[in-house]
Amino acid sequence: MKLAFLGLGVMGYPMAGHLAKAGHDVTVYNRTALKAEAWANDHKGRYRASPAEAAEGADIVFMCVGNDDDVRAVATGPQGAFAGMKKGAILADHTTASAEVAREMEREAKAKGLGFLDAPVSGGQAGAVNGKLTIMVGGADESFRVAEPVMRHYGQAVTLMGSAGSGQLTKMVNQIMLAGLIQGLSEGINFAIRAGLDAKQVAGVIGKGAAQSWQLDNRATTMIDRKFDFGFAVDWMRKDLGICLAEARRNKSALPVAALVDQFYARVQERGGSRWDTSSLIDLLAKP
Ligand SMILES: NC(=O)c1ccc[n+]([C@@H]2O[C@H](COP(=O)([O-])OP(=O)(O)OC[C@H]3O[C@@H](n4cnc5c(N)ncnc54)[C@H](OP(=O)(O)O)[C@@H]3O)[C@@H](O)[C@H]2O)c1
Repeated sequence: MKLAFLGLGVMGYPMAGHLAKAGHDVTVYNRTALKAEAWANDHKGRYRASPAEAAEGADIVFMCVGNDDDVRAVATGPQGAFAGMKKGAILADHTTASAEVAREMEREAKAKGLGFLDAPVSGGQAGAVNGKLTIMVGGADESFRVAEPVMRHYGQAVTLMGSAGSGQLTKMVNQIMLAGLIQGLSEGINFAIRAGLDAKQVAGVIGKGAAQSWQLDNRATTMIDRKFDFGFAVDWMRKDLGICLAEARRNKSALPVAALVDQFYARVQERGGSRWDTSSLIDLLAKP
């Protein structure tokens, strides 16, 4: 297929790479052109200077940028993707953004005879590199049927959750659960260390019981060693929790723990941890 990929960050760069490796004809765009040039060299692909030019003639345009405002700029700006897309093409957005912006993009896409899918991902940088992301999709069934087999090049689970915004709402559930889980893990590990236990042994043992989780399996050792210079950045998590808290005000759900953990992450930012992995919550307990 003729495809475009907009936004070659930590996630987008390897995701676009999987599409090229699968034999699709891929044109990329990145705001910082050097990265697009590097991608095109790595994958013998093409890059263009604007989203509109990259999107020209593509059957599906993928994008993975930062937040709501970035989605609006890259999709609807004067040089945005919508300005270049051909009738009937689909924009699939992998950015973690609000459900509101997803609905807004779908409305704009429909008015131009285009399709739109909100398709946030979970699985982190490793998931993007290994092609094993979980992709939660919102939008029309007919667009999903076209895009789903293509997203499978980097997604091990690609699921349509409902109408526009449903992918983003599902990702919010993921982040709400993670916030409480990581704080629980931090408290448990900190307790184990202060109780004089071998915390790595504790993590290994209870990881085979009911407290098992991806976070415990993949982050306990680095939390004990206080290594945070990798992974999913605290800045991104605060952006995501902000989206969750705003949505919760709308649908009247109580998020007391997520709100508290959001404040803990603000304290991690204050001590210079904006780019640290989200497991850095333990730093507040280890060094109050
Ligand atoms: N990293 C993870 O583990 C992870 C996991 C799940 C979901 N996500 C989500 O995936 C999205 C991307 O994350 P990432 O880690 O790939 O971020 P990143 O490395 O910071 O990359 C962001 C990309 O978006 C581009 N961009 C941002 N704002 C733009 C704008 N206004 N106009 C044009 N391009 C713009 C950046 O261009 P430049 O190169 O010019 O800066 C860059 O290519 C975020 O919504 C994040 O929450 C990330």
